[in-house]
Amino acid sequence: MIKALVGLRDWVDARLPIMRAWNTHMGKYYAPKNFNFWYFFGFLSLVVLVNQLLTGIWLTMSYTPSSEGAFASVEYIMRDVEFGWLIRYMHSTGASAFFVVVYLHMFRALLYGSYQKPRELIWIFGMLIFVVLMAEAFVGYVLPWGQMSYWGAQVIISLFGAIPVVGEDLVTWIRGDFLISGITLNRFFALHVVALPIVLLALVVLHLLALHEVGSNNPDGVDIKKYKDENGVPLDGIAFHPYYSVHDLQGLGVFLFIFCGVIFFMPEMGGFFLEYANFEEANALKTPAHIAPVWYFTPFYSVLRAVPDKFWGFVAFAASVAIPFLLPWLDRSPVKSWRYKGNITKVMLTLFVASFLILGVLGVKAPTPERTLLAQICSVFYFFFFLAMPIWSSMDKTKPVPERVTMDGGLSAMGVLGAAAVIAVLTVLPLKAVGAESEYACGSIPCDEITVDHSNKASLQSGAQMFMNYCFGCHSLQYQRYNRVAADLGIPEDLFEANLKFDTDVKMGALMNNAMDKQLAKQWFGATPPDLTLISRARQPEWLYTYLRTFYADPSRPYGVNNKVFKDVGMPHVLMDLQGMPECAMGPGHAANGGVKRDPLTGEDILDVPCGRLEVKQAGAMTTAEFDAAIYDLVNFLSYSADPVTEKRHRIGLFTLMFIVLFFVLAWLLNREYWKDVH
Ligand code: HEC
Repeated sequence: MIKALVGLRDWVDARLPIMRAWNTHMGKYYAPKNFNFWYFFGFLSLVVLVNQLLTGIWLTMSYTPSSEGAFASVEYIMRDVEFGWLIRYMHSTGASAFFVVVYLHMFRALLYGSYQKPRELIWIFGMLIFVVLMAEAFVGYVLPWGQMSYWGAQVIISLFGAIPVVGEDLVTWIRGDFLISGITLNRFFALHVVALPIVLLALVVLHLLALHEVGSNNPDGVDIKKYKDENGVPLDGIAFHPYYSVHDLQGLGVFLFIFCGVIFFMPEMGGFFLEYANFEEANALKTPAHIAPVWYFTPFYSVLRAVPDKFWGFVAFAASVAIPFLLPWLDRSPVKSWRYKGNITKVMLTLFVASFLILGVLGVKAPTPERTLLAQICSVFYFFFFLAMPIWSSMDKTKPVPERVTMDGGLSAMGVLGAAAVIAVLTVLPLKAVGAESEYACGSIPCDEITVDHSNKASLQSGAQMFMNYCFGCHSLQYQRYNRVAADLGIPEDLFEANLKFDTDVKMGALMNNAMDKQLAKQWFGATPPDLTLISRARQPEWLYTYLRTFYADPSRPYGVNNKVFKDVGMPHVLMDLQGMPECAMGPGHAANGGVKRDPLTGEDILDVPCGRLEVKQAGAMTTAEFDAAIYDLVNFLSYSADPVTEKRHRIGLFTLMFIVLFFVLAWLLNREYWKDVH
């Protein structure tokens, strides 16, 4: 068997130099033996690239690239495709992970001067990869066709309109239409799955070819080719395979642990990896209150917003992305690594990281005058860092560079902690200084806390019953199927049919649509009741819980009710017979920190705000406690509907993480064995 395989290999090798290619890039590629933590991220970028390609292919199989079908097809993948949720979360988390590892990879180059002669081309190809990656991520983000897909694209594409003379035509040309539409979606799909990935792959190949031509830099920035043994092998070099292939397995273990932790336990990553508003389908007539690009664009987006003029903002934005291309020619230092550069470099690098992080944080927040000022300061510093680099890098004192690589150079563990602490302080303090959030998450009031629990079947069942009785008449649950709900909640199908499914013509496998006429609904309520399948992901459970408990009598409204959370909502108080009708009373105001304003002497709440409190004068069928519990069940059910796999996801996630820990231990032992004789 082995003989046959070797025979086959030699047969191929005689016709295609596979052994030579292997040796050039793996077996006889000599990398410096002093690689540290920062050298994992190149390999990890490759891992994420493969992840994106594979999961992307599978997503394409079930995705519909049309404005009518896109959003529903993503929900179909999340619910009805076997393990579709896993594939999609791998892809969505992979997009963010890509930028995490690429930013760290780029920072490594900055630390160790890996862009300096003779590695300028590697850097150029790397920057091109980064720019194409941004384009790829941008067009990919449009595909789920949620509100942020639509409005994010709207904002970014309209930036091109700032270009004089041709701007408006250019914008129309990019969109392929006078508005962002299905045509735009279709061409972005083509770019995302065909055009850009090909370019990306080609650039990655060029990046690696250029790297393996001149060889890797290292944390000391010394040239390992100066000292070679009699066979021409660098004395400080070590074969990439097996030494670094094994070494990288450890990094892979740690990376996968975090990556899978996110996928299985927090795929939205607090709204940063999957923005909440994107769980609402794109609607050209409804602008979201707050449009923010995904986190990895925000540093550059902040630069754009920092400039008060539209055109110059666009120029600054483009320049901020383009200027790092020039790095090899801006850095005039005679040494590569920061280890042998002086204090000016260290201060500049620290400030650069802090200001880049600040720009990133500011980019996701709504602008205030203070925030804009901070963004302007950081933007100016961003450009100063690069443009003044020829001056400060040549002014800086340098230390003598050793002849050979060192195995114990760089910061100690305490040094690393110290540097991280300094950067954290420099980042957090300015952000704190420019202020707290100005708005409450629940309209005019802070949200009430709630912890959903999808393992509580009894609660989900009574929530489902509430929903079918009180909400389904107006609101659909159109991405969820009857039999799925029955199975997940442990309700036998015949019981479900008899008690919870009112339309006997509909099959149990059908989607939970309702028969309400959209046009009529609009006439009756002034707004169509939206589908509620994803409402708990778009709005968050706290919002729902507070919203459903804060209807109050308001004779000025058509149905005589208003809502504290959703002002002037079109929905009547459908739960009045349970809760009674709350009425406005004088109540406590809220201090800026969200707490209740109290009298400092008596400690009593100050009741000076009209309608600061709701009072139920005429009680309904339930007490307040019973009503709150019923709403908890309802919200719990809606939260389950928005993401029905959470329980299963957590269970599988636990096993996956345990497996990865095992993998890491094995990789660590293997690596120790290989490296025990390397000094
Ligand atoms: C009589 C019809 C009707 C019933 C029954 C009804 N709603 Fe509504 N609901 C509406 C309408 C109309 C709107 C749209 C309001 C608007 O946009 O102004 C709405 C809006 C909402 C919203 C806000 C959605 C958003 O835009 O973020 C939520 C949440 C909601 N309803 C939940 C419920 C729940 C839960 C129930 C069951 C207890 C329910 N509704 C019962 C008519 C109804």
